[in-house]
Amino acid sequence: MLCAVTWILPFCKCVTCVGIEELCSKRDELHRQILEEEEEKRKIQNDLRILTERLSKVNESLSKKTASRNEFDKTIAETEAAYMKILESSQTLLNVLKKETATLGTNQTSGATSGRPQHGHGQHMVHAPANVSRAMAPST
Ligand SMILES: *[C@@H]1O[C@H](CO)[C@@H](O)[C@H](O)[C@H]1NC(C)=O
Ligand SMILES: *[C@@H]1O[C@H](CO)[C@@H](O)[C@H](O)[C@H]1NC(C)=O
Ligand SMILES: *[C@@H]1O[C@H](CO)[C@@H](O)[C@H](O)[C@H]1NC(C)=O
Repeated sequence: MLCAVTWILPFCKCVTCVGIEELCSKRDELHRQILEEEEEKRKIQNDLRILTERLSKVNESLSKKTASRNEFDKTIAETEAAYMKILESSQTLLNVLKKETATLGTNQTSGATSGRPQHGHGQHMVHAPANVSRAMAPST
C-alpha cells in the first residue's frame, strides 16, 4: 500500500510538506516491519504445527512402548519369583536328602573299619539333585 500522502506531495512541495514527508517515511518503515513480522509469525505457526504433530506422535509411541516394557518387567518378575520358588523347594528337599545321606553315611562309616566307604557315598550325593528335581516336578 502506498503512503496516502504521497500523491498530495507534488501539490504542496512549496509549502510545509517536509513534516508530512517525514511522517510518511516513518509510516512506510513501520509497514515494512509489520509485513516482516507477519511473515515470521506465519513461519513460527507452521513450525509449531509440525512440532505439535511430532510431539503427539512421539508421545503416543512412548506410551505404547512404556506399557509394553512394563508388561515385560511384570512377566520377568513373575518368572523369577516362580523360579525362586522352585529353587527353594528343591533346596529344601536337597537339604533333607543331605541330612539323611549324612546320617546314613555316619552309621555305615562307623560300622566299617576303614575310611574308604566315605568316598563312595560322596559320589552318590553328587547324583542326588538330578533325581530329586525330576521327582519334584510332577507333584508341584
Ligand atoms: C501424551 O499422552 C498422554 C496419554 O497417553 C496424555 O495424557 C498426554 O496429554 C499426552 N501429552 C501430549 C503433549 O500430547
Ligand atoms: C545312626 O546311628 C545313631 C547312633 O549311632 C542312631 O541313633 C541312629 O538311629 C542311626 N540311624 C540309622 C538310620 O541307623
Ligand atoms: C536316579 O534314580 C534311579 C533310581 O530311582 C537310579 O537308577 C539312577 O541311577 C539315578 N540317577 C542319578 C543321576 O542319580
